[in-house]
Amino acid sequence: MYRTRTCGSLRLADEGLVVTLAGWVQRTRKMGGMTFVDIRDRYGVTQLAFNQEENALLWEQANKLGREYVIQVTGTVRERSNKNKNISTGEIELIASELTVLNAADVPPFTIEDETDGGDDIRMKYRYLDLRRNPVRANLELRHRMAFEVRNYLDKQGFLEVETPILVNSTPEGARDFVVPSRMNPGQFYALPQSPQTLKQLLMVSGFDRYFQIVKCFRDEDLRADRQPEFTQIDCEMSFVEQEDVLELFEGMAKYLFKTIKGIDIKESFKRMSYADAMKYYGSDKPDLRFGMEFVELMDIMKGHGFPVFDNAAYVGGICAKGAAVYTRKQLDALTDFVKRPQIGAKGMVYARIEADGSVKSSVDKFYTQEVLQELKAAFNAEPGDLILILSGEDVAKTRKQLNELRLEMGSQLGLRDKNKFVCLWVVDFPLFEWSEDDQRFYAMHHPFTSPKPEDIHLLDSDPGAVRANAYDMVINGVEVGGGSIRIYDSALQNKMFGLLGFTPEKAQEQFGFLMNAFKYGAPPHGGLAYGLDRWVSLFAGLDSIRDCIAFPKNNSGRDVMLDAPAALDDEQLKELNLSIHLAPNS
Ligand code: AMO
Repeated sequence: MYRTRTCGSLRLADEGLVVTLAGWVQRTRKMGGMTFVDIRDRYGVTQLAFNQEENALLWEQANKLGREYVIQVTGTVRERSNKNKNISTGEIELIASELTVLNAADVPPFTIEDETDGGDDIRMKYRYLDLRRNPVRANLELRHRMAFEVRNYLDKQGFLEVETPILVNSTPEGARDFVVPSRMNPGQFYALPQSPQTLKQLLMVSGFDRYFQIVKCFRDEDLRADRQPEFTQIDCEMSFVEQEDVLELFEGMAKYLFKTIKGIDIKESFKRMSYADAMKYYGSDKPDLRFGMEFVELMDIMKGHGFPVFDNAAYVGGICAKGAAVYTRKQLDALTDFVKRPQIGAKGMVYARIEADGSVKSSVDKFYTQEVLQELKAAFNAEPGDLILILSGEDVAKTRKQLNELRLEMGSQLGLRDKNKFVCLWVVDFPLFEWSEDDQRFYAMHHPFTSPKPEDIHLLDSDPGAVRANAYDMVINGVEVGGGSIRIYDSALQNKMFGLLGFTPEKAQEQFGFLMNAFKYGAPPHGGLAYGLDRWVSLFAGLDSIRDCIAFPKNNSGRDVMLDAPAALDDEQLKELNLSIHLAPNS
C-alpha cells in the first residue's frame, strides 16, 4: 500500500499511530539537528520531522529532498510543540522512520504555494503545476460539487441526461463556428455545437420530456473574462411547459445550489424585470442589483436652458451616488476620463454635488439656476453629501450603455459590489429581434427557435422590432448565468421566423430541414434553458475570470499555451484530409 492516510487527515487524536503518507515535498527547513519537511497532497499538508540524533542516515536523506519530489514516508504521529493554527494538521507532526523517494523533480518554474511568484503566462504553461496550488484546486473541487448537485437536483425532478454529438452542423447562437474537416467526406466540415439547441428540441419530439446535459459548447467569439471558446452548459429542455413552469423549476435549482453549496437559504422569489426596464433603469440586460443607483432620465429638467450639449442630445440621464460629494476634483476628472475611454465612448460627464446646506453645485452652473438644480436634486431624492453624475448623447441606447459603465464603476469604487452578497434576477420579455445597423437586417436576439409572445404575433409583419419573445435570462450580481426560451413548435411559424431573419426558403431547408421535418411528426410544446456552469462556479468562488475554474483554459487569444494549440497540420495529415492551405492575405 502506498499510503495508509492522506496528508490532510491526521489530528491530535491520532497521536501514537504509525502511518504511511505519500505526496509532494512542499518545503524543507533545516534547524540544527532537526529537519522539517512539509508533505502535500490534494487533501492538505503534514509536517514530517527528521531527527539527526535518532536516525542520522534518514536525516541526511531528508536534507537531500528537493521541492516537489514525490516521496513516501512512514512514521509515528506526535503532538507538535510549535502548533500551526492555520492548517488542519497543525497540531501534529510525523516522526519519520522510513523515507522513499518515489520520484525526483526538477526545480518548478514557480513556487507552488497559495501566494505564488508565478505570473499568469508561466502558470498557464505549467498548468499541471498550478493545479497543485490550493486556490486553483479548491475551484475545481467546487466545480465538481456543483455539477454533482446539479445532477442530484435534476435527477430528482425526473430529468434524463442524454449525450448529444459534438461533430454536428452549424447551431446558430450568434457566434462563429469552430469547424472540423472530414477525411471521409473531402471538402466537407463538421461544426462543433455552439449549444445542443436543435438536438435537445429533437429529443422533445422523441418524447424525452425532461432532458439535461452537462455539456461542452464551442463558440468562436471575442474572449472576455466571462467567456471561453469552449465552455460548459447545464443544458435543459422540457415538454408541455410554459414560461412560468421553466422559471419555477430553474429558480428552484438556483436556490438548491445556493443552499447546498453556499449554505444560503433564499426564501423569497427572485426579482423579475422586463428587458425594457432593465435597459431604461440600468442600461444593461444584466443589471447588477447589489446596489441601487438607478438611472433617472433628465431630458425634461435639463434640456432647454442653453447648455448646447444637453439641448442637442436625445438622451440625458444620470445616477446619484450616495455620499460621494466628497469626491475631489481629481477623482471627478478621473471619472470623466473613464467614461471618455474609447471602449466606453462618452464625450464628457457633468456632475452636481449636494452641499451640506442643501444647495447644488454643478460643473455647468453657468447654464442652470439654483431653482433648476433643485429640481435635479428632487428627481433623485438626493440629500446633502450625494453626488449626481450625468451623461448625454444622441443615441439613447449607446448613452444608456455608457451610463451603465459609469454606474458599475461607481458601485465598485464605493464598495457596493460585495462578492459575498448575491442578488438574483430574472430578466424577461426580451425583444424577439435585434436590428443590426451594420448589416441592415434583423438577427434573433436569443436564437431563431425562440417563440414570440402570442399577443405580439400580429406585429411580426408590421413592426418586427417591437415583438417581444418568450425569452428569459437569469442574472446574478450582473452576470448572465443562464438563459432560455419557450420554443416555436409550429413549422409554419418557424418558417416565417427564418424568413424574417433573412433565410431564403432553400437556405432554411438546407440548414434546418431536419428540424422542420421533425416538427411535422408531432412536436410537443416545449421550452428550456441553459446555465453556464463556468459562470456559476466563478460566482460562487468569487473569481474575476471563469478561466480560474477551468482545469485547462485558453488564453485571451484562444490559445492553450500548455499544449501549444492550435497548431499547423503536417503535410501528411493535410493530404489525408484532402486539404491544402492557402492563407488569405492579411491573415
Ligand atoms: P445562451 O447563448 O444564452 O443560450 O447560453 C447559455 C448560457 O451559457 C453561458 N455562456 C458562456 N459561458 C462561458 N463562455 C461563453 N463563451 C459563453 N456563452 C454562453 C452563459 C449563458 O447564459 N441554447 C441556448 C439556451 C436555451 O435557449 O435553452 C443558449 O445556448 O451563462
